[in-house]
Amino acid sequence: EQAKKVVIVEDVSKPRAVAIKLRDTVKHRGARVVVRGWVHRLRVQKNLVFITLRDGTGYLQCLLSGDLTKTYDALTLTVETTIAIYGVISPVPDENHAPDGHELHADYFQVIGKAPGGDDTISNIVAPNADPQTKYDNRHLVIRGDVVSSVLKVRASVLRAFRKSYEDLGLLEVTPPCMVQTQVEGGSTLFEFNYYGEKAYLTQSSQLYLETCLPSLGDVFCVQESFRAERSLTRRHLSEYTHIEAELAFITFDDLLNHLEEVICRTIDYTLADPLIKGKIAELNPKFNAPERPFIRMTYADAINWLVENNIPNEEGEPHKFGDDIAEAAERKMTDIVARPIFLTKFPVKLKAFYMKKDPADLRVTESVDCLMPGVGEIVGGSMRMENLEELMGAYARVGISPNPYYWFTDQRKYGTSPHGGYGIGLERLLAWICDRYTVKECSLYPRWTGRCAP
Ligand code: 4AD
Repeated sequence: EQAKKVVIVEDVSKPRAVAIKLRDTVKHRGARVVVRGWVHRLRVQKNLVFITLRDGTGYLQCLLSGDLTKTYDALTLTVETTIAIYGVISPVPDENHAPDGHELHADYFQVIGKAPGGDDTISNIVAPNADPQTKYDNRHLVIRGDVVSSVLKVRASVLRAFRKSYEDLGLLEVTPPCMVQTQVEGGSTLFEFNYYGEKAYLTQSSQLYLETCLPSLGDVFCVQESFRAERSLTRRHLSEYTHIEAELAFITFDDLLNHLEEVICRTIDYTLADPLIKGKIAELNPKFNAPERPFIRMTYADAINWLVENNIPNEEGEPHKFGDDIAEAAERKMTDIVARPIFLTKFPVKLKAFYMKKDPADLRVTESVDCLMPGVGEIVGGSMRMENLEELMGAYARVGISPNPYYWFTDQRKYGTSPHGGYGIGLERLLAWICDRYTVKECSLYPRWTGRCAP
């Protein structure tokens, strides 16, 4: 009753408060500011309320004292309530250990929107030990947490770094369509939909479109969602993922590998050059270091021998033999033992997509590459492309797809062909490696997989 009667008003004789984002607190030390955000953490003591405020750009410890702690709003304050706090950002004596060595001493505050306490309090819904389905049902709340928001910030930084790297290397960004009428990586994972009465698909890869850009724009890249109706439930398969793809003209297979190594290393270097992001990666994955160059280059045939020598069996539990698919478990074991990035090259023709160029020195295999990273396995798939028209026509026939809808892709071989190649990087897999996440789902804003298309 007593508390309800304590009402606070802003003291207008104080200097006008400047509205700031929490990323800018250091610059405004000593000044009177107003910060607005969500109550991330809350600790109430007698006559003192400690609030860790969050606005997405950073965190700030704020201190309410005196009459401010006695108002109804202060006494009923809950986490996730939105609030505007006015006051001066002041250095803290060492023993208090506030982040950045300062905290806001509030002289006034206003609640903007309350959040429920009790059973509905956010930490009950998204407790760290909540079952995964509950967490993914409440992904919109889970992303407010420290870990997930850190991963999402690293994700943004990695995307920015890719764009910088591609700019350095002279590749132009394009935005191919998501709605298509051709497959790239096999019919079994196509999402089909009705496009004004015609059969259409969600794109599996923008590769074929990138190839058409070479004569027009030179080397190109895109950052585009790809869709796969994967039936397998694994730690590294999503139904929708962010695909970073590039295509380069007049290159050799070796050029392709060198370029890929350069893009990955440059992107990691740019990412780590931001101290804030470097700090977040260090918290998520204390053992992470930029990869050593050159990456190990191993042919598929050598990998098969390596798996036999190291007693890692194939999916039937037998020793691997030439022609076997290297399944996820075996691949993971190999990358964990080698513990360095590996370019696995020259896969057999029958294991790979129809468009891949054969190795002129051994026609059983393709000029293809998978890049494998410790802890995750394959994060990149790429190859040189068939450049000969007749050979491509033969490849359509070999896999049983009609060349008709591919006329525009085929035309690249008709109107001035070129040796060319490219690759696709799975952003969530790259992030699972950098941030040491158990599954790629943790690296997507709103992950989709078998049985989940919400929220
Ligand atoms: O190896 P993939 O299927 O290759 C292609 O799509 C080529 N057309 C790319 C190109 O050459 N332009 O896929 C490339 C990468 C994989 O290495 C993996 O990182 C990721 O895409 N990827 C997936 N990530 C999450 N969930 C899935 N279901 C994925 N399928 C592939």
